[in-house]
Amino acid sequence: LLGTYGTEFGVPVYVVGGFVRDLLLGVENLDIDLVVEGNGNEFGKYVADQLKIKYLSHEAFGTCSLFFKDGFKLDIATARTEYYEEPAKLPKVEISTIKKDLYRRDFSINAMAIKLNPEKFGLLLDFFGCKKDLDNGIIRALYSLSFVEDPTRILRAIRFEQRFNFKIDENTLDYMERTIENNYLEKVTGTRLREEIEKIIKEKSPINGIKRLGKLKIISHLFPYTYYTPTLENEIIKMFAFYDLLNKENKKYIENTNKFYILLYVILQYTSIDVLEFIRVKYGLPKNFVEKLVDVKNVFNKINKEDIKFSEIYELTKKFNNEQIIFLASKISDKMREHFYKYLKKLSNIKLPLNGKDLKKMGYVRNEIGIKLDELTKIELDK
Ligand code: CTP
Repeated sequence: LLGTYGTEFGVPVYVVGGFVRDLLLGVENLDIDLVVEGNGNEFGKYVADQLKIKYLSHEAFGTCSLFFKDGFKLDIATARTEYYEEPAKLPKVEISTIKKDLYRRDFSINAMAIKLNPEKFGLLLDFFGCKKDLDNGIIRALYSLSFVEDPTRILRAIRFEQRFNFKIDENTLDYMERTIENNYLEKVTGTRLREEIEKIIKEKSPINGIKRLGKLKIISHLFPYTYYTPTLENEIIKMFAFYDLLNKENKKYIENTNKFYILLYVILQYTSIDVLEFIRVKYGLPKNFVEKLVDVKNVFNKINKEDIKFSEIYELTKKFNNEQIIFLASKISDKMREHFYKYLKKLSNIKLPLNGKDLKKMGYVRNEIGIKLDELTKIELDK
């Protein structure tokens, strides 16, 4: 239908990027990007008028979004060549052809288009040996300055490599390593880096992505004065495993848990306070982030005793949130972690003989109620 509208309006219309990649791989992808050779905004308006649906234009970028009645959203862009006035900054945009539009993209596997106009419906545009790379499982940058212009592509390469179990082409790896060594990641804002790291840890096996970040020394470029060591790797593995365990047990527990914060607690635990503060601001972390990290560090040694009672664990950790609990689990012995898991299970199922309301009726005031409830909890935990 969109292709037919394209022909009526007199513009070639293509579906591009990740959707084409996933279509050829047979993977579901509901994120459809269209590119028009011509004015994408005016075309979007034309389609919205025909279908009587909502339309939002982002004039400066030559893009627009269409909102279908069933909630589906479609982005339409104008074929463009981006040029960078400064490395690692957002690009300036110029109207262009589909070939140039595809060439400015990150990797060959993401640089194919399929035509939608009825005359050539389904025609695959593959100018740079993209399909061959997809078939051979190769991640290849289209030009040598790709990572310099957009260093977040370094993190994207790792994400796609892990997701599809592909291999990064040798030259591409070389460009990546040079861009990393020349401190280009440091030029990117924390917000953009955070988005990419969060995407890596949302993948199926986040540990493989993290291992790759460690091996390529990217961790030290993302977080200054932080080093990826075998000890740290082991702790990250334990952290992800405990996160998955709690997730399997109780989906709700994890819904309100920020995986990115836990990862950062683990990675940054050896970093000094002033550097931590710099990183906190850069990545837009909450004000009490450093304090919460230090609070957990303070109980590492106290909790690592095999004969520790549940009531003692409660006393040490009762103020911790989910992120702190999982971070702590990465720091204790395997045996202790089993004990800690049983403790958490018991705590979440606990039934107290009296609740806050009962205590209020009995004449207890605010502070006392908290103290009394703690006491009752500890008694139940040790039963
Ligand atoms: N793209 C790019 N450089 C970037 C980000 C995106 O060239 N730094 C291009 C790629 O062609 C990509 C498309 O924009 O396919 C859409 O980007 P995005 O939606 O972020 O990624 P997808 O490839 O669709 O991947 P995912 O399945 O993870 O959404």
